[in-house]
Amino acid sequence: MASFVIAVDGPAASGKGTIATRLGAHYGLPVLDTGLLYRAVGVLMRAAGEDLDDEGAGCAAATMLTADQLDDPRLRSRAAGELASRVAVHPRVRAALMDFQRTFAGQPGGAVLDGRDIGTVVVPDAPAKLYVTAAPAVRATRRWNQLKAQGEAVAYEDVLADIRVRDARDGGRDAAPMRPAQDAALLDTSEMTIEQAADAARRIVEAARARWLSSR
Ligand code: C5P
Repeated sequence: MASFVIAVDGPAASGKGTIATRLGAHYGLPVLDTGLLYRAVGVLMRAAGEDLDDEGAGCAAATMLTADQLDDPRLRSRAAGELASRVAVHPRVRAALMDFQRTFAGQPGGAVLDGRDIGTVVVPDAPAKLYVTAAPAVRATRRWNQLKAQGEAVAYEDVLADIRVRDARDGGRDAAPMRPAQDAALLDTSEMTIEQAADAARRIVEAARARWLSSR
């Protein structure tokens, strides 16, 4: 592959989004938060009064999605995360979102994509793959602080319960379940500050980049 793609996968609130943004800034690469695609499909379906279990309706919503719809701040809400994980179980919804992600990944020079299945399904030949994790309680604390900062008042226990439900659904589904690619570097950020996590990620990607450059 000609472009340097960095795949950053992992569960909700593991730090993968911040890491992807930092890597994008460091390498001068565009960044796609692929969770936003699933969030947008879920929010569009809910707004249209569709049944989230209706795969055909989900597929239609995914097909009509445009890049400018991804800027909506409502996609960052707790409710949107739950809707996203429900529509993400449908293989046809995932297939309809594939082109957008692969086109983004194929940009000249490369790209950073974060999600659940980037290293396993979307860009399996990405030269750099990270799987970012953290303990559920740590992730719940991070997400809780984020939601509070966005003005969304919610109990910590509810956020932890959300995280556990989403982990089980995302990891247990048949279509592109959340799991590390065989050749992904695992990064557990439980005990790390964001600076430490970003530094560790950069070191992993530097090593992958050196291997990639020498193999071309
Ligand atoms: O990353 P984020 O929390 O925004 O993702 C929301 C949901 O979208 C996830 O819980 C997951 O169900 C789904 N998702 C996915 N594949 C991706 C990105 C997100 O299934 N590549």
